[in-house]
Amino acid sequence: MRNVGIVGTGSYVPDKVLTNADLEKLVDTNDEWIITRTGIKERHMAPADMPVSELCYQAALKALEDAKVGPEEVDLVIVATVTGDHAFPSTSCIVADRLGAKNAAAFDLQAGCTGFIYGVATANQFIAAGMYKTVLVIGGETLSKIINWEDRSTCILFGDGAGAAVLQPVEEGYGFLSFELGSDGSGGKLLTQPAGGSRYPASQDTVEKNLHTIQMEGKEVYKFAVKIMGDVSVNVLEKAGLSKEKVDLLIPHQANIRIVEASVKRLGISPDKVVVNLDRYGNMSAASIPVALDEAIRAGRLREGDIMVMVGFGAGLTWGACVLKWTKVGKMHD
Ligand SMILES: CC(C)(COP(=O)(O)OP(=O)(O)OC[C@H]1O[C@@H](n2cnc3c(N)ncnc32)[C@H](O)[C@@H]1OP(=O)(O)O)[C@@H](O)C(=O)NCCC(=O)NCCS
Repeated sequence: MRNVGIVGTGSYVPDKVLTNADLEKLVDTNDEWIITRTGIKERHMAPADMPVSELCYQAALKALEDAKVGPEEVDLVIVATVTGDHAFPSTSCIVADRLGAKNAAAFDLQAGCTGFIYGVATANQFIAAGMYKTVLVIGGETLSKIINWEDRSTCILFGDGAGAAVLQPVEEGYGFLSFELGSDGSGGKLLTQPAGGSRYPASQDTVEKNLHTIQMEGKEVYKFAVKIMGDVSVNVLEKAGLSKEKVDLLIPHQANIRIVEASVKRLGISPDKVVVNLDRYGNMSAASIPVALDEAIRAGRLREGDIMVMVGFGAGLTWGACVLKWTKVGKMHD
């Protein structure tokens, strides 16, 4: 089996910023409540005519440039999203076409906010097994388009954006060291966009009942998140044969600062090793982790040989984590 790593990253968020003060004009809320309960100060919103494929395309362009990889070299494009352009065709096909990735297979993957972790785990298998050499994994969302702007318990949380990573073979001992993925469909109702699929196809009734927007039982999701983030991080480190003291950087899903802080405390990792950007972006679901990863790399927070953990949870319910020994040097001659 080949070792697989991330050899380039990119991210993109739309220009328009929605602050907590802007939200005060829409629903009965205030800046202090939002910051205290979530840590979020602002989030980015795609304009009405911008589909998620555009965000994904912009992030992917930067990732390919960073990896010095041409679009024709890409063997597979995976887009993790819950807000694809259409039910079909897949967003990945649209993005591959725009990039000029003529030789690539393409599919979308849906694992809620854990989508990027599921994406890199999938890409890793294709490369490790020798089927592909270059896989582009993108997490992108336009959650602003499925928010109920009258529901103050959800509309304050989410934002739009995309992050991308190019995966290739790397030197032995580097790259992904372990993965842990999981699901529990019995918790599906805690976080859902109920209508628009085959159970509740779009109708006047579903629109009138607001069933095309995010429905969430926040407190239950919160409890699940704190427990699972700590547990899955411990498990994935154990699989890699590493203690928590070896971790140089932790990139958690960016849902709520209280969830991040509680799980980091549970895990016993120093807060200065944790990447947090949710104050500027809110929860961007599948885009949260790859955008945070790209920003951390560009800020110089990862050095060759560093141990990095990415961990997420989301709708499904799903969860996932991975451990990497960092290198950006690809090994394409194998
Ligand atoms: C949603 C969340 C921020 C709510 O925080 P909380 O501390 O659990 O708050 P509660 O739901 O208990 O609400 C407390 C009070 O604030 C009110 N409230 C809710 N949203 C509010 C808002 N935006 N502004 C002001 N008040 C608000 C509630 O109505 C409630 O009032 P009441 O006590 O009079 O009934 C929190 O539960 C959370 O982050 N959950 C996880 C969500 C998540 O991460 N989802 C994505 C997963 S990928």
